[in-house]
Amino acid sequence: MTQLSANDTATHCLISPPGLHELPPPELRLGVLASGNGSNFSAILAAIAAGQLRAEVTVVVYNNPTAKVAERAAAAGIPAVLLDHRAYETRVAMDQAIVAVLRSHRVDWVIMAGWMRRVTQRLIDAFPQKILNIHPSLLPSFPGLAAVEQALTAGVKITGCTVHVVELEVDSGPIIMQAAVPVLPDDSAEKLQARIQIQEHRIFSLAIALAAQQAQKLAQQSESISIR
Ligand code: GAR
Repeated sequence: MTQLSANDTATHCLISPPGLHELPPPELRLGVLASGNGSNFSAILAAIAAGQLRAEVTVVVYNNPTAKVAERAAAAGIPAVLLDHRAYETRVAMDQAIVAVLRSHRVDWVIMAGWMRRVTQRLIDAFPQKILNIHPSLLPSFPGLAAVEQALTAGVKITGCTVHVVELEVDSGPIIMQAAVPVLPDDSAEKLQARIQIQEHRIFSLAIALAAQQAQKLAQQSESISIR
């Protein structure tokens, strides 16, 4: 059997679903929620700049004062708003504040790019079917914290990442796209995480475009049904 090396993973990863429809996706106004580094946020900006995603990030909301995503947003000239969860008595109060910021920037899709907070129905109801999350495992396997470590402990040979629509239960909701990443014999959590992130950066913008196309199609279908 041929052993895979770390360099092989870009060619050996599988992405589902395989392609996008020909219909050009609509122009999207994205609000990004992030808690940390923000490499997925930067990857989305790169896809927009490359013309692969017809969208604009109108605001970044972050909950941790030291999150590097704030620097990334500043460098890109995108407003970044700190909503420190410690300042709110309840999760609902925090989500209410998030909704207010997103609305004030006329966001239509909410992109959870490393957002490490549980969401409440308040946020979900404000953007029905329009909140997407990325998670570093092939859901429904290994939801929650430390997904990469969970996969290593379980001894799976393939893990990956998932973009899904957000529902109330953590890391649940309809799956938009996944990429598979092989676990190598000498993997550490750091090495595996780094290879998963390469795939996250590839699929997140594809998944946003696909979800927007699906939503647009559904809207057109329901419009034609109500006209008839
Ligand atoms: C990503 O790997 C993402 O999958 C994970 O946080 C990381 C953020 O990286 N999200 C979760 O675990 C959510 N359950 P980034 O800040 O460099 O984009």
